[in-house]
Amino acid sequence: MDQSGTLDSLLQEERVFRPLPQLVIEANVNPQELEAARRQAETDPLGYWEEAADELDWFKKWDQVLDDSNPPFYRWFAGARCNVVYNALDRHIETGNKNKLALIWEGEPGDSRKYTYYELYREVNRFSNALRSLGLGKGDRVVVYMPPLPETLIAMLAIVKLGAVHSVVYAGFSAKALRSRIRDAEAKMVVTADGFYRNGRVIKLKNTVDEALVGACSDCVDSMVVVHRAKVEVDMVEGRDFWYEDLIRQERSESPTEVMDAQDPLFMLYTSGTTGQPKGVIHAHGGYMVGVHRTLGQVFDIKPTDIFWCTADPGWITGHSSVVYGPLMAGTTTVMYEGHPLYPQADRMWNIVAKHGVTVFYTTPTLIRMLMRFGTQYPKRFDLTSLRLLGTVGESISPEAWLWFYKNIGRSECPLLDTWWQTETGMFMISPLPISLLKPGSVTRPLPGIEAAVVDKDGKPAPPGKGGLLVLTRPWPAMMTGLFKDEDRYKEYWQQVPGGVYFAGDVAKKDEDGYYWIQGRADDVLNIAGHRIGTAELENAFGAHRAVSEAAVIGVPDRIKGEVAKAFILLNPGIEPSDDLNKELKRHIKNELGPVAVVKSIEFRDSLPRTRSGKIMRRVLKAQELGQDVGDLTTLEAD
Ligand code: WT7
Repeated sequence: MDQSGTLDSLLQEERVFRPLPQLVIEANVNPQELEAARRQAETDPLGYWEEAADELDWFKKWDQVLDDSNPPFYRWFAGARCNVVYNALDRHIETGNKNKLALIWEGEPGDSRKYTYYELYREVNRFSNALRSLGLGKGDRVVVYMPPLPETLIAMLAIVKLGAVHSVVYAGFSAKALRSRIRDAEAKMVVTADGFYRNGRVIKLKNTVDEALVGACSDCVDSMVVVHRAKVEVDMVEGRDFWYEDLIRQERSESPTEVMDAQDPLFMLYTSGTTGQPKGVIHAHGGYMVGVHRTLGQVFDIKPTDIFWCTADPGWITGHSSVVYGPLMAGTTTVMYEGHPLYPQADRMWNIVAKHGVTVFYTTPTLIRMLMRFGTQYPKRFDLTSLRLLGTVGESISPEAWLWFYKNIGRSECPLLDTWWQTETGMFMISPLPISLLKPGSVTRPLPGIEAAVVDKDGKPAPPGKGGLLVLTRPWPAMMTGLFKDEDRYKEYWQQVPGGVYFAGDVAKKDEDGYYWIQGRADDVLNIAGHRIGTAELENAFGAHRAVSEAAVIGVPDRIKGEVAKAFILLNPGIEPSDDLNKELKRHIKNELGPVAVVKSIEFRDSLPRTRSGKIMRRVLKAQELGQDVGDLTTLEAD
């Protein structure tokens, strides 16, 4: 086995789960092959990734696998020409995949649509042609503000096909958050829907875009494309707003795929950091497609017969790599669901699995905790035996939730793959394969070609079992190529820990077997239901309210969402705390940032703990809140 040397000690662990023998026999990557891949990647990392790149189609191959002459600006597949859409779509039309299902989509009300690769290809081409006639070209940015609809995936591919760059903004973000992203990206166009269904209600989306495009942003974009979804009455601005359906009607179903340089930006995606301003993470065509294709294939062992359901929204990196680009490059069938997981009742997810015969189900610990509350009555009503692999991502999963999922959904037969990665990494980094020995709560070991370490703040390796900073010590193909208009902030990832290594922002420990256990963020970033949000963003949003003088936000544990925000507020002189103000502030945050920013409680204070230089000490507030020793985290905290 790949873990041969460590097998004995692993078995001494209380709970270790091994794959069924049949699964090991059938796996695409067997234990010997995994071990060989690890060895090859260690001795010849560039050769390893070059082989991975050879599995894809290129217009022109690279002059160099990795140009590392100017770290940390690494250039993967330098000199190559390609387009990820060629690999996700065009090439399948020439093979037996042509008439295979590419997408199964289900709307919340129960309607459903299916596309073969050929149908998807034609629809993408039509929309790509339409976008071209609206004046969109290579390098232009388009904000896609959409719920999970087939047109969301179609828009992403159509934009990239013609060489433009998408920035998908989660439909749960507010008009203000949307506006700041449109402005920062200098987007030329927005693609949206009239509305969508969520938890039995119709959410008006186009109206929110209209709200974003006012004032200083009234001329931000040249055009807006609106998909008909929920029959919401909308105002269409003559000459700026177009219905998707009208645009594509006349378009031809063939469209050229732009030849891109491997370094050309493919998409950008905003993610929260420690300052108030979200960062525009950029991914480029060449490295991204190689990294995502290789790791998705390894971890989820994709077979021609799979029906792959990753429950993520397209607005997050998981939606990009594990709903759209990864599954389509692999030629598998990807599943999308529009609505709320508990609508109309708590059996919806199992209903979808059973109805479509889902074989791989990849979701978040938050969703598992949410569904666990209802016990096993709902999953028991459905035949879930089509499932062969389970996965989670976004936050650590407690052994309790792991075991519930494994036992009640996976029949104690389906490996549960806990994948660690980030918006910035683009691809899976630390994760088991189906053949791995699993320890509930551990993300196991780095994938072949990935080198990680747990170190102290001087960059020295932490001894086994001791917590430290999680770093990546070698560049990897799907790494972000930069942050939009912010070179310095990009460099910071590589400067925080000595040694030129990438600091992920997480605290982790590595056990005696080399298994990683992620313990949470090391910085002022919250992880609410698997979504990153910076305390500074929340604090700025509070600060924008007339009653607030100053705010300090910390994360506190939550049974379902893992973590939620708690705010400590200093009010302006003359303003009295009250329940009404408390409610108003919560509403205000929802307005400013959208429903992703869950503020559980607000506490009004007369003063806040500060450093000598006047900085608020959030860790003191947090330690007090959780009844912990205040000195606990000092080594990780910068003053
Ligand atoms: C942060 C990245 C990658 C898609 C989802 C989130 C946390 C991610 C795990 C995991 C424990 C995890 C980390 C990481 N995280 N996966 N399997 N176990 N924590 O992407 O929004 O870029 O957030 O999510 O803290 O740094 P993201």
